This record gives sequence, structure tokens and C-alpha cells, in this order.
Amino acid sequence: MALLKAFDPFVICLLCLILSASDFCNGGITSSFVRKEYSPDMPLDSDVFQVPPGYNEPQQVHITQGDADGRGVIISWITPDEPGSNTVLYWSENSKHKNRADGTFVRYKFFNYTSGYIHHCTINKLEGETTPFKPYTHRYYVPYESSHSTSPLWYSIKRASAYVIVLSSYSAYGKSTPQYKWLSDELPKVDRSETPWLILLMHCPIYNSNSHHYMEGESMRVVYESWFVKYKVDVVFAGHVHAYERSKRVSNIAYNIVNGMCTPVNDQSAPVYITIGDGGNHDGPAIGMVEPQPSFSAYREASFGHGIFDVKNRTHACFSWHRNQDGRATEADSLWFHNRYWNPLGKSFVASY
Ligand SMILES: *[C@@H]1O[C@H](CO)[C@@H](O)[C@H](O)[C@H]1NC(C)=O
Ligand SMILES: *[C@@H]1O[C@H](CO)[C@@H](O)[C@H](O)[C@H]1NC(C)=O
Repeated sequence: MALLKAFDPFVICLLCLILSASDFCNGGITSSFVRKEYSPDMPLDSDVFQVPPGYNEPQQVHITQGDADGRGVIISWITPDEPGSNTVLYWSENSKHKNRADGTFVRYKFFNYTSGYIHHCTINKLEGETTPFKPYTHRYYVPYESSHSTSPLWYSIKRASAYVIVLSSYSAYGKSTPQYKWLSDELPKVDRSETPWLILLMHCPIYNSNSHHYMEGESMRVVYESWFVKYKVDVVFAGHVHAYERSKRVSNIAYNIVNGMCTPVNDQSAPVYITIGDGGNHDGPAIGMVEPQPSFSAYREASFGHGIFDVKNRTHACFSWHRNQDGRATEADSLWFHNRYWNPLGKSFVASY
């Protein structure tokens, strides 16, 4: 008995170790490859990041939308030494007449820090374009009418053996919205004998363990995830996060906020979610990751690259992801997809992709 007692703390210690180890082993692979964040053509000591020279020079200028319909702007700036002017001069292009708007300033203390003079000036009733997505819809023509969509922001196409549905993360998607109604009519139309592969595209990832845009896809997940499972979507591709991530086949449809079942579970009817926002951008890849790697995440890497989804036949597709900083065609992640509808492994749905 005495011996056992003496060992108790050790046993507890060991148990803790195993528990915490399993915690960290839950997720899949976090690749150690990280693309360099800053490039030599925009170093941190570049003059664009410098405090402007001169006494009380305005700094940290930013411009924010100033009203609900996009015809106003708020100009904010900081003067470090004294309030200075509150006035913003503005004019239409090529006009000699200068308009004035007067703002106010605030300042605050926090512990032993005293802020500079923070100016805010609202300019209202500006003329200009306020239609959302106007450049996008003019530059990217899509055949949305042929899939009976009312908007070019969500639509579907058939391409060889794939049925591709495009959704809009930034249009209303809740119950009774046009997008919701369209998708509820669209999914039952997919004939998997004609197009065995059902692929979804959207902007915000629904399963993402990068700290950039973490959980931003959550409300769309709540609305649509049960349909993705019901209609056996094979794969969902999203962008938004400038990195690569692949999920396991998971779903979280049992979760209803109050039942506490908030951990996604393995679900062989669920799609694989792939974040493929790694085409490159000017401010570098999304590097921070949520730690430990959540159990839904199979592979994640903070670098740029591209993926190829190569449909072989009705049951098999090969997906490969290639990072593009190796100077050669390196397959950093790849796997076979087994079609959800024509699953070659039968109805048993043993763990497979
Ligand atoms: C504020 O306090 C911190 C911690 O006590 C100290 O390191 C810092 O130098 C102080 N800053 C100023 C502006 O006094
Ligand atoms: C489909 O393609 C996979 C991979 O190439 C192959 O193993 C399988 O036999 C093919 N199925 C049929 C029915 O041809």
C-alpha cells in the first residue's frame, strides 16, 4: 500500500503526459516548411513604414467607410505633439473648387501611455459607385443563368464527370435568401450517374486551422454543412487564407450550440475541405496556426502552391498539392479520393478519402 502511494504521483504524471501527447497528436501534419514572410523588395525598414519627419506631422492616416450605403468616408489621423488642424480639404477630380470638412479629435491614457491627438473627420454625400461586386461581375463573366441562378455570385457548371457548384461567402446565405433557395433546389438536381463528382467552391473556408480568418466560415457551415453530408459532396475548395490545408472527412452537424458537441467527428459521408488560397499575394502567406493542430486538420502548410484534382474515373480521383518555392515540381501532399456516391469500398465507409 505504502509502495503504491509512493508511486501515485508518478502514475498521474505519466497519465498527464499521455493525455497531453494525445492532445497534440490529434491533428495531422503541420508541415515545417514555412515561406519567408518578408521579401527584400519590401523590407521592414523601408521608407513607407517610417514616421513622417517634421514637427507635428500627421501620421497613421486611415480611411474607413463613413455611412451605411458607401457614400461617406471617415478620415482618421494622428498628430503627435499638439492638436493641429481638424480640417480635411477634398475635391472632385479636375475641379478647382475645394470642399472642406471639419472633424474632431480625441486622446486617451492607458496605464502610463498617453496617446497623440487622434483626429476623425467624416465626409458625407460623396458621389460615386456603390454597387457591391461591380468590378468583379464585370471582369468575371460566368454562365449563372443557365443554372437558374439569379446572381453571378453563385452558380453551377458541369464539366466532364464533375458537377461544380460555386457559392458566395459574401452574399446572404441564410434561410429564405435567394442563394439558400437556389442551393436547396440545386443539390437534388445533381445526377451522380451523369456527373459522379460533386465539387463545391467558396471563398471562406469552413474548416480552417490557420489563425488567419479562423472560424470565419462558421456561420455558413451552420447553414449548409448538413446538405454537404446529405448529398455526399466529394470535396469543398476555398480560398481566403493564403496557405494550404486539407481536412479529414469530418462533420459537425450534431452540434447545436447548447449540446456541447462542438468537436467535429469523423464522417465518411462528409466532404474533404481543402483551403487552396495559396496562389500568392503581395503581403505574404498566412503563417500563424491554431495550436495544437485540431483533429479535423490532416495537413497544413504556410506556403504558396497549387493543387491538381485529377479525376481518373467514377470512383477514383487523385489530388496532389505542389508548393512552388522548391524550384522544382514537388508534391508536398497527395492522396487518392474515393467518390462519396460511388464509393468503391462499398457501403461500409471505412476510413478513406
Ligand atoms: C511604462 O511602464 C513600463 C512598465 O513599468 C515601462 O517599461 C515603460 O518604460 C513605461 N513607459 C513610459 C512611457 O513611461
Ligand atoms: C478507376 O481508377 C483507379 C485508379 O486509376 C483504378 O485503380 C480502378 O481500377 C479504376 N476503376 C475502374 C472501374 O476502372
